[in-house]
Amino acid sequence: MSTSSRARSSEESQLLDLAARYLPGGVLGSSRMPEELAFVVKRGQGSKVWDVSGREYIDYLLGSGPMILGHAHPAVVAAVRDQLANGTTFFMLNEPVVRLAEEICRAVPCAEQVRFTSTGSEATFFALRAARAWRKREKIMKFEGGYHGSHDYALMSSSPKWPKAFPAATADSAGIPHVLEGEVLIAPYNDLATVEALLAVHADALAAVIVEPFQRLLVPQPGFLAGLRALTARYEIPLIFDEVVTGFRFAYGGAQEHYGVVPDLCALGKIIGGGFPLAAVAGRRDVMKAFDPSLDGTPDFVAQVGTLNGNPVAAVAGLATLAELRKPGAYARLHQTGRTLRDGVGELLRRSGLPAQVIGETTLFDIVFTDKPLTDYRAMLTADGAMLKKFNAECLARGIVKGKEKLYVSLAHGDEDVARTLEVFEAALKSLPRTGRPARA
Ligand SMILES: Cc1ncc(COP(=O)(O)O)c(C=O)c1O
Repeated sequence: MSTSSRARSSEESQLLDLAARYLPGGVLGSSRMPEELAFVVKRGQGSKVWDVSGREYIDYLLGSGPMILGHAHPAVVAAVRDQLANGTTFFMLNEPVVRLAEEICRAVPCAEQVRFTSTGSEATFFALRAARAWRKREKIMKFEGGYHGSHDYALMSSSPKWPKAFPAATADSAGIPHVLEGEVLIAPYNDLATVEALLAVHADALAAVIVEPFQRLLVPQPGFLAGLRALTARYEIPLIFDEVVTGFRFAYGGAQEHYGVVPDLCALGKIIGGGFPLAAVAGRRDVMKAFDPSLDGTPDFVAQVGTLNGNPVAAVAGLATLAELRKPGAYARLHQTGRTLRDGVGELLRRSGLPAQVIGETTLFDIVFTDKPLTDYRAMLTADGAMLKKFNAECLARGIVKGKEKLYVSLAHGDEDVARTLEVFEAALKSLPRTGRPARA
């Protein structure tokens, strides 16, 4: 049944009113649903979520990525339930988190050691701090349009409306000291020649180069990541892959395995916590050594601590999730579901005549309303954001939840979900205004 045909209950309206009163903007983060379609989640199961009014949605937001098995997966629920009875946090070594560290090192090519944090933002923040300590330099290079969380060094030129000349950075938020703009150099994603030229000038000042190997929705062009690896190795600058999104999603070994390029450090998050707050820095033993308290009191020591780091509930949820992902055929099925959906969307776009394309990988993609080739952030600025917003709203009204600019696929999405989603997408595309320009797919 379409959600639009059912009304919001008075209970849900009251909760939305309370949210508006007690939460800034009535939301938990920077994005919000259109007011008339906003809802409050009551529960999630598999590929679906239900709101307080009882309306059902197929969920492609998946908690912004962690729920690769879908919601309330029985193996995760059982593991968490067992752990709850045995204590929920210790601020001490516990078996689940040691086992999770071991499994991450087994899975992720660059990982020799792991330092746990609670969020992906902390993971990138501390990866950068460790790189600075190791390399004895302070500046970092990141890529325009790349997102590494919400700390002061990460929110630089992630979404500039008026990009500056490279490598000048623009803080993306009020409250970030402008002096930090001088600590971050910005480079264009997928443009190795410009990166090389910037490194030729600035390499000696750099502590690290951090990159989303798959930047938002942009796929690395052949040779880009390998070239970045070679350049950073030449200058002995630690290369950090931000795998908060791609880790255990693109492959069991993440983007490093998928694209065949191994960085020095990586940041992990989302999937490794199985839906609980857990993230990590992982990488080369000699760089990770900076976190070792035996260095305390020396200039090499990186201070890093967090009350809930290594939380056993999150660790058992992560371990249970990884165990499901290791089952034979899991990734083949995940990629196949994504491929069917992505190809289906591509076909709908071709037929729609809209200037739009689907970009990304099989397990994470979205529609972008432009017919320009998309390889970097500036090309993404040619997209019609208002059209995407309208498309998302049309989908939401028909019972499909997706990210603002992302669609995550899970192992819980089945053939029926995919078929229903394509029906909804077709109807949503038909409701959009026509411009008469051809589509790219
Ligand atoms: C690539 C990337 N890095 C870092 C983060 C930050 O992670 P968290 O939201 O857990 O702080 C995100 C969050 O979506 C992300 O997409």
